[in-house]
Amino acid sequence: MSAIYETDQLLAEYLLFHFGSAEEILPSTESWPQGMRDALDFAVRTPGYFSSTPVERGLDLGCAVGRSAVEMTRSCGEVVGIDFSHAFIHAAEAIRKGERVGYDRREEAAQVTRLHAAAVLPNPTSRLIFQQGDAMDLPADLGSFERVHAANLLCRLPEPERLLARLPSLVRAGGELVLATPCTWLEAFTPRENWPTVSTLDWLKGLLEPDFEFVQQAEEPFLIRETARKFQWTRSLVSVWRRRA
Ligand SMILES: C[S@@+](CC[C@H](N)C(=O)[O-])C[C@H]1O[C@@H](n2cnc3c(N)ncnc32)[C@H](O)[C@@H]1O
Repeated sequence: MSAIYETDQLLAEYLLFHFGSAEEILPSTESWPQGMRDALDFAVRTPGYFSSTPVERGLDLGCAVGRSAVEMTRSCGEVVGIDFSHAFIHAAEAIRKGERVGYDRREEAAQVTRLHAAAVLPNPTSRLIFQQGDAMDLPADLGSFERVHAANLLCRLPEPERLLARLPSLVRAGGELVLATPCTWLEAFTPRENWPTVSTLDWLKGLLEPDFEFVQQAEEPFLIRETARKFQWTRSLVSVWRRRA
């Protein structure tokens, strides 16, 4: 099912979701409910749960086209963004190189509007590294990080517990972990036997608390525009954790 993240349609939706302006997502020629406006900039809001003190290394798992990883470079010396989708990583890397990446915002039927994605990049851009990879089978030599972010990834993994088991060795003592999940468990992505059998937060606490202190939880809405009249409005459960010494 992760093949959907290789399609032009999902690539365009995520470029708009991560890098589109408010005007590009919710044109002011129309009126929109405040709840939709409040759901903009999700990829900027979730890394906002990290403290702002400068640290050496950050990791964004399931980084998609890279906006949260770019944001993490504001206070991390180096950020590694990893995603399973070759198409997403290709676009993230093009943006990292300073390209304006063109994509079609779908209006209706075959009507599209050509837009471009670009980012305010760190200096030097080599502080930002994108690589294709599997969050359930990360490279042994990836190293460790003061900050690890994984937004809307867990319930897209066939075996999410494999990632959760790797987290203690990825996050340095005293380091921060920010997870966000809309808890939309679907058999298309995760076999039913790998779904939590309690609430997703209690499942996370049961698996993470031996190594991580639970710091806080929050709800963050996000908005993905599919066409001029069809949007996904979803609320993601954010949990913040600190690696025990
Ligand atoms: C729902 S999207 C969330 C993307 C981004 N973090 C955000 O919040 O906008 C899920 C992302 O996880 C990626 N993904 C799915 N399976 C993965 C895996 N096994 N390893 C790494 N990334 C994966 C997808 O390619 C997609 O970019």
